[in-house]
Formats: sequence, structure tokens, C-alpha cells
Amino acid sequence: MISQAVRMESLSSSIFSEVDELRKAEIAAGKSVITLSIGSPDLPPAPHIIEALNTAAISNQNYGYTLSKGTDEFLMAAANWYKQKFNVTLNPETEVHSLLGSQDGLAHLALCMVNPGDIVLVPDPGYPIFSVGPLMAGAELYKMPLLPENNYLPDLKAIDKDILRRAKLMILNYPNNPLAATASSDFFAEVVALAHEYSFVVCHDFAYSELVFDGYRPASFLATPGAKEIGIEFHSLSKTYNMAGCRVAFAVGNAQVLSLLGKLKSNFDYGIFYPLQKAGVAALTGSQECVRNTAMTYQQRRDIIVKGFNNIGWHVASPQATMFVWAPVPTKQTSFDFVVDLLQHTGVAVVPGSAFGACGDRFIRIALVQPNEILAESVLRIKNWLG
Ligand SMILES: Cc1ncc(COP(=O)(O)O)c(C=O)c1O
Repeated sequence: MISQAVRMESLSSSIFSEVDELRKAEIAAGKSVITLSIGSPDLPPAPHIIEALNTAAISNQNYGYTLSKGTDEFLMAAANWYKQKFNVTLNPETEVHSLLGSQDGLAHLALCMVNPGDIVLVPDPGYPIFSVGPLMAGAELYKMPLLPENNYLPDLKAIDKDILRRAKLMILNYPNNPLAATASSDFFAEVVALAHEYSFVVCHDFAYSELVFDGYRPASFLATPGAKEIGIEFHSLSKTYNMAGCRVAFAVGNAQVLSLLGKLKSNFDYGIFYPLQKAGVAALTGSQECVRNTAMTYQQRRDIIVKGFNNIGWHVASPQATMFVWAPVPTKQTSFDFVVDLLQHTGVAVVPGSAFGACGDRFIRIALVQPNEILAESVLRIKNWLG
């Protein structure tokens, strides 16, 4: 008899897999399905990135193990990128660490920061690994509701002082998945003050820093005065450079936290495949026109969905960033029931907000991962269905 470790019970929201099974069943039944559920970029990396990968991949010498921390060249490229984009100065030797995707960092961070029973403050709704990583470490979660009436920011004043005293880690993410919400530097300043007062570490996931629209520029959490003393920030090349399958990302910020994470990671695994680090360097140091083009593509897609929905009377806010639209359920159904109905009547597959936490249940998440004409087709199908 094979038994499962108790901690496995907290893995993977069944809602995601249930919706995906239904989506696959529709495809198997020959229906035309438009997949707007999976947040994987459909756009390719720029040619100079693929070329750097190709060039490095044909050299016999590049197939050995690499160090978990990252090559000097990669760490320097990440530090310079941060300086240029956010005016944050980083020591590439101590304040930058490579990651096998930011998911790697989010999965392992709590393991080296918290003891069983310690509290980790996580957003609800939130990207699932924010909760899964701490749960695997035996942490207790305190879910910070992100509600429209608070502009999707946690109400820091509403968190009980006893909870704050037991908290070891807070995880934040702006621009946000799934909410597409953004945060101001004033909010980050409040977070930094609270983290100093109660001595917890803050991890800010900045995966969508470059998928920004209409001239909006998000502030780096690390640019907040005092942030580096208590926090780290994750950036990923997955969305910025359309390299999701490459698993290239990095953490920056507090040297002690990064050294703990590095110690754990180097015991668990090795570093990023050398040719992929070369591709990462090409991405970070090369022309950033590809990033502007990617953001512009998502902006146009956002407009098709947001304008299209609003024209049919489904009132949806227009996000300033990310590759997602967070739309209120237009019926009295739960988000799950609505998503199933939507799929079966129109073939449009999206994710119910409840997959990201109980506070998401009145919403659905639409990923802008199809070209303009397919998005327009999905609006048309929904219009015909909702009448
Ligand atoms: C908020 C957020 N963080 C992290 C990730 C994971 O990114 P990576 O590919 O770097 O592991 C995603 C992917 O969708 C995300 O939305």
C-alpha cells in the first residue's frame, strides 16, 4: 500500500485541474475551444535571445553542472538591469542569486526562513505557490484578503498584532496575478515600516514588472528606503522575454536571505543550464525593444477584451499591467459554475477566481495569450451567449 505524506494534501488546487479536465473533454468532443486559462506566453523570445542560446548550445563545453548561484556574467547582467530599470544598486556577488524560474525561489524560500507553526502572510487571492511553499515548510498561513474596495492591497492595519508578532515572512506580488492590480511606493513604504517593526522578511514577486501599459512604470519594492534590510524581490525572464520554458529567473535584495536560499538550493540542485544563462544575459543586456513590443501586444489584447466586454454590458476594469484581465462574474453563480457554463456554451476556457483563494470567488481570470482575432472571436461568442 502506498501512503501519501500529509503535506502532499496541500498541493495543487483541484479547481485548476478540474477546469482543465473539462477543457480537454470539450476538445476531445470536437468542440472549438479558445484557451484563455493558462498564463503561458504564446509569443516567441526575440531572435538575438534564441541566437545566444543556439551559439552556446553547440559548444561541447557547456553541458556540465553549473553553480546554483549563477555565472558571474549572469549575476552582473541582472544587477545592471536592475540599476537601469529601477535605479536599485545591487552587489552582484551578494545581492543577486539565479533561480530556476521564480517558482523555484517561491517554493523554497519558506523552507529556509520559517519553522513549523510560524506564520507566513500570503495574499488571497494569490498565485498558488505563495501558499504551497510555506505549507510545505509546515508554516501556518495568514491570508490577507485583497478586495476591490481596498484597490486589491492588503489592509495592513487589519492584521492582528499577535499574528504580526508570529509572522516570519510576507509574500506580495504587484503587478498582480490574478488581479492585474498594481501597488504604489507609498504602500511599499508602509510594508517596509511594518516589517521593521515586527521583524519579518518580505518577498516581493515582481514577475510582471515589464508587462505594463499606457506609460505606467511600477516601482520596485527594493527601491523603497529600508527595503533591502528586510526584503528580497524576484524577477523572472518567463514573461518579460517570453522564456517561460527556459526556467531563468533571479532573486535580488537582502544578502542574508539570499545566502540562506542559496545554501538550500545548492544542497537541493545545481544551477541553470549554461546556454540558458547565456540566453538570459542576451535578454537582459540586449535591446529592450522586444520587451516594449511584448507589452504593446498585451496592451492591444487587453483593449480588445475590456472594450469588447464593456460593449456587451459586462463591466470590466482595464488593467495597467500583466497579461490578465480580472472580470467579475456577471451572473449570480459561483466563479466555478460560471466558468463551466462559459466553456460549455462558448468554448472559451478561463480560470475561476476561486482557484486563487476564497476571496476570488466573485471573479474569473482571463489570460491574454491568444492573438487579437481569436480574442475578438471569444468576445463575439460570449456576446451571442449572454445576449
Ligand atoms: C505571479 C507569478 N509569479 C511567479 C510565476 C512563475 O514564474 P516562473 O516561470 O519564473 O517560475 C508566475 C507564472 O505565471 C506568476 O504569475
